[in-house]
Amino acid sequence: MTLDLPAVSLVCPRCRARGPNPHATPLSLHGCVWVCNRPSCDARYPALPFPAVLRDLSAIAQPVSLVPWHRMDIDAAIAWLESMGSDSMAASAARRIATYVWSHFRDRMPAELTPSFIGDAPLPVLLAQLAGGPCQTALVMGIGAGRLPLELAALGAEVVVALDLDPMFVAFAQDLARDHCATLPIPQGAVRWTRASFELPPRLAEASRRVVPLCADALDPPLPHRSFDLVVLPNLLDNISDPLALLAEAHALTAPGGRLVIATPFAWQRNVTPPAARLEAQPWCDPTGVARCLDGPETLVGLLTGELRSPLGFRMHLERSAVLPWHLRLHARQFNTFECHAYVFRNVPPHAPSSARDASCR
Ligand SMILES: C[S@@+](CC[C@H](N)C(=O)[O-])C[C@H]1O[C@@H](n2cnc3c(N)ncnc32)[C@H](O)[C@@H]1O
Repeated sequence: MTLDLPAVSLVCPRCRARGPNPHATPLSLHGCVWVCNRPSCDARYPALPFPAVLRDLSAIAQPVSLVPWHRMDIDAAIAWLESMGSDSMAASAARRIATYVWSHFRDRMPAELTPSFIGDAPLPVLLAQLAGGPCQTALVMGIGAGRLPLELAALGAEVVVALDLDPMFVAFAQDLARDHCATLPIPQGAVRWTRASFELPPRLAEASRRVVPLCADALDPPLPHRSFDLVVLPNLLDNISDPLALLAEAHALTAPGGRLVIATPFAWQRNVTPPAARLEAQPWCDPTGVARCLDGPETLVGLLTGELRSPLGFRMHLERSAVLPWHLRLHARQFNTFECHAYVFRNVPPHAPSSARDASCR
């Protein structure tokens, strides 16, 4: 059970105004609850089985998300799923976790679960390499099955906060850090299920001690500003209702001189991101005031480097980028592959000389 968050302080989301906010109130741990230090605030947040620090706890996913499929006897779990039918909410929650567990840990699973046309390393492994360089404190927002925090810790991060809104993913990350292995049901076809088991290699098992699971909203993160050397948004930007607000929060959490890594296929979904909220929904002005109609990747880079005028007012430096394959397994005969655009931005400290590219924007 995680009660201590080494080197991580939490702040009260209820006392915290969204956007730039120097007055966030710290939380203190009292027994099994986090308590806001402001006397006039009565906010309490559960600390067990993992910290769940949300302005409104009803914001977390459906209760079926709380079914810990990976903790059940595997034969019983498969029997349940096969008797419930493929359209049940429980089956869709089990499919969701199986999709991401396979996507993150397929290199640790029996070969028959992966077709021969998929040969590259899992996306979190590629992203950890792209993020590059050691860091002390890292934050991953939207962890899915949680491979990326483990990889960053194995590369030398002293503490990695693994944040997700879905308690199912946070519970999985926490159990994996404790057990170093997992077995869960994975779809074989539309209605049949089979088992998927894997073990962490020693380097990830050792690194798991430095991963801190946190159930929280990336649009309202209960974390102090400028406190992370590395902030990563792996496939979250196009999975959120307000991408601009997410960029503002992620930028605010990144320490001066730190890195912000964003990976996304820009695969917007109507029921998640309203069309008007998408980055490319509106024309943005370049530094000369000319309105530009750009696609997602150019808009993202332009907004973060300041090449496009926006209320965000960022001036980050684009250090590197890559297009990486991202595979999801729906069942044994159906896979989705995305081209994931990944960028490493450096948060230029105030008054630091900027890159030539940045200078041309002002
Ligand atoms: C498309 S999945 C990507 C998972 C993983 N990063 C990957 O690349 O495989 C998006 C993840 O973000 C999480 N998520 C969605 N909205 C969130 C929010 N507002 N705050 C935190 N996490 C969120 C989902 O629960 C899910 O784990």
